[in-house]
Amino acid sequence: MPSPALPVVHVLNGPNLNLLGAREPEVYGHDTLTEIEQMLRDKAATLSLGMVFRQTNHEGTLVDWLHEAHEQNAKAVLLNAAAYTHTSIALLDAIKAIRPPVIEVHLSDPAMREPFRHVSFVGMAAAAQVKGLGARSYLRALELAATLP
Ligand code: DQA
Repeated sequence: MPSPALPVVHVLNGPNLNLLGAREPEVYGHDTLTEIEQMLRDKAATLSLGMVFRQTNHEGTLVDWLHEAHEQNAKAVLLNAAAYTHTSIALLDAIKAIRPPVIEVHLSDPAMREPFRHVSFVGMAAAAQVKGLGARSYLRALELAATLP
């Protein structure tokens, strides 16, 4: 008998996160996005979750991927929208339009940084926020996603 499909969490990453490891390591740490993906895959396996992991530098692509998470009946979305967090009403509207809960993730704590990072359009519709823990923000957010009904 094939085992029933695992619940799937979509992990969506926005602009400049492809440069993690080299990009402002004093702010974002030394882990590359590929290393973060591997840590998350290991954790997802222990939590009996499937995982889709993606990165784009384009706002509309993030909107499309949020819609896909809905269409594919994802259990939850972890979204690090990077700078679009602070600018994108399109992402706010997309999060409000879809069923899967969205957990906002940041490596740094934007509230402790420049004032323009204090606004989060993502946070206005997200189910939860995990920030300021470096790569561990993603791991904590995945644990949180696993506890969602
Ligand atoms: C970030 C914080 C954002 O303010 C910034 O624009 C990023 C990364 C973080 O993970 O700490 O690109 O989302």
